[in-house]
Amino acid sequence: MITDSKWNPKFHVFPQNGGWANDPNGLCQINGLYHVFYQYRPDAADGSGRVFWGHSVSEDLLHWEFKGAPIAPDTDLDKNGAYSGSALVENGVMKLFYTGNVKLPGDYDYTTAGRLSNTILVESRDGGATFTPKKAVMTNADYPADISCHIRDPKVWKEDGKYYMVLGARTKADKGEVILFSSNDTEHWKTEKVLTTKDPFGYMWECPDLFMLGGRKFLSLCPQGVKADGILYNNIYQSGYFTVDNGQLQDFTEWDRGFDFYAPQSFVDEQGRRLFIGWMGMSDSPFPNPSTKVGWQHMLTLPRVLETYEKDGKTKIAQRLLPEIGLLHGAAEEIKVGTDSRPYSCFHAEIENAGGDFSVRFGDMELHYSQAQGRMALLFTNWGNSIGAGRSGRRAIVGDVHKLDIVIDVSSAEIFVNDGEEVFTTRIYPESALPLHTYGKGLSGRIYELNV
Ligand code: FRU
Repeated sequence: MITDSKWNPKFHVFPQNGGWANDPNGLCQINGLYHVFYQYRPDAADGSGRVFWGHSVSEDLLHWEFKGAPIAPDTDLDKNGAYSGSALVENGVMKLFYTGNVKLPGDYDYTTAGRLSNTILVESRDGGATFTPKKAVMTNADYPADISCHIRDPKVWKEDGKYYMVLGARTKADKGEVILFSSNDTEHWKTEKVLTTKDPFGYMWECPDLFMLGGRKFLSLCPQGVKADGILYNNIYQSGYFTVDNGQLQDFTEWDRGFDFYAPQSFVDEQGRRLFIGWMGMSDSPFPNPSTKVGWQHMLTLPRVLETYEKDGKTKIAQRLLPEIGLLHGAAEEIKVGTDSRPYSCFHAEIENAGGDFSVRFGDMELHYSQAQGRMALLFTNWGNSIGAGRSGRRAIVGDVHKLDIVIDVSSAEIFVNDGEEVFTTRIYPESALPLHTYGKGLSGRIYELNV
């Protein structure tokens, strides 16, 4: 365990023994127990070194036990990284699919040549402790001919007795695509179709996820190479979803409006909920994470519950705050507008707005809502005791705001607007517990201390 615990979260998955974590992988629940795997680089907090799958388990999605790194990049199929993938559970058997990244020695650009992207299958009958030998169920020769060496991140599911897989890809002409495959046995796969936009929307699509929700089909993915457009697409890489209508991708919507959210994955738990976990970080992000100095970097989000809702005649996805958070609720403090609360490191603020503008401040992190503009801003002023480590401002049009949930776990902030119709996720680095300050005549609510 990292000994300087100043920024260790209490109820989120993070690389607790040091190193770097990125994408959530292999999400599933077996006999009540939740399994979260993730991209884990134990050698260094800066992300250099070998890429494993780390593994954590939990009974309630809040208390996590680290089980080590059961998938290592230790064969010719995956020697430059056990890259992202997903889980399929049948009769208690966990099948994990992932991308074995191999860089051939030589003078290659590793985009059009020199990289193998093997789709690997391993099975576990003991809840992810041991696995069968690695088997490549697809190699570069099995992918469409116009795809570059960048094709990865298998998401697998079963539908009507058949298995399906999506892979994210970059074409040789630098267009982002998702390739859909099918199989009768999880080992032999055939290309079904390509899902993409008419005009290019970025050069590479990572971490795809295709699912039904509320009777509609959605394709979640992470496009790279999409330019900022006003208050949209302000991060270096994007993460969002399309609605899929007759194979057509429509209305790309960003999952999150904060600074640190990427590579999410969903799964259906034993209660039938579609849960959703993201990486609270991003490759090549311009924002530093001071926890690197104490030996670790990045964490995963709290699981969120996906549900559809209707807005402006369109079906959208809300990310509801995990109801289990109530298990951690400790003493509640009523919000007194215009004053500081007690100082906290871990809390859930449940705030109602009867109408009008408001602002909420935690350190130099400020949320500003303007009712006239229907606009919410997440701002770090970066003056004095800044907790944003260089993060600046992000904005979203949110319409009327009647509810705000803020969950702080030491060095993370997850802000749910109107029960998750919009979410802002960001890392924060406070030096100590801080008070919450609210301002706005329509505000009321309470702050629960969160006890783990
Ligand atoms: C997304 C990603 C994936 C890849 C993994 C490697 O963050 O680039 O496409 O599989 O990270 O760690």
